[in-house]
Amino acid sequence: MDGNGRWAKKRFLPRIAGHRAGVKTVDRIVSASRSIGIKALTLYAFSDENWGRPSREITGLMRILKEFLIKETPRMLREEIRFNTIGMVEDLPEFIQEVIQESKEKTKDQGGMVLTLALSYGARREIVEAARKLAKKAANGTLDPEQIDLGCFESELFTADLPELDLLIRTSGEYRISNFLLYQIAYAELYFTETLWPDYVEKDLHEAIIEFGKRERRFGLTGEQLKKKEKASFFSMKRLRSWKAGKPDE
Ligand code: IPE
Ligand code: MG
Repeated sequence: MDGNGRWAKKRFLPRIAGHRAGVKTVDRIVSASRSIGIKALTLYAFSDENWGRPSREITGLMRILKEFLIKETPRMLREEIRFNTIGMVEDLPEFIQEVIQESKEKTKDQGGMVLTLALSYGARREIVEAARKLAKKAANGTLDPEQIDLGCFESELFTADLPELDLLIRTSGEYRISNFLLYQIAYAELYFTETLWPDYVEKDLHEAIIEFGKRERRFGLTGEQLKKKEKASFFSMKRLRSWKAGKPDE
């Protein structure tokens, strides 16, 4: 979700006005995603690096986050959305941690879509943390290092309970990943748009999804191999792994 600051600057408004406009986009895009039938939507709301921003902006963002959660929780319940976070939530001020916990608790049984906010999130740190957790288990004898495989490693990532990442959208004409879900984008389709996040509307999301649908995702296989398979069920890394393990399920 990039471009809030530039959106505000263009209008001679303070950056925080851009973030407020950005929250309206979040409202629109969460509802649009839910109604299209997207099962998991993850929004990069606050990165590890964002702690370096002016403290006035950080305070403003935290306040907006709190307001968002208080206002959105009843809507999440209505729209059957489960609230989730990735990142170092423990870095956030206590008053935010409390509302996060409350929203998670209230929406925990919702099964329509999982809305994840990445908060104090950095992918490199996530990967390093996962390595550290596995090393600890190996050191205390509860894990045999030989057993560390993809599945084992992934279970230590923040995204352990989320489905495979299909599509990553970055707004505002920046062509970078900026430390977001670096491990998880291995086979994701990347989509970049010039639109600033506060200007992003339902139609933009639909265009990204239409474009996604046109791309042939081969996961390292040949186009011919894929034609023989029923696409929807074949596009699963888990099944690919069982293939690699010599257990094709044809
Ligand atoms: C992204 O917008 C939103 C957050 C990081 C919370 P920016 O604040 O990065 O907007 P630009 O890049 O300055 O336009
Ligand atoms: Mg930015």
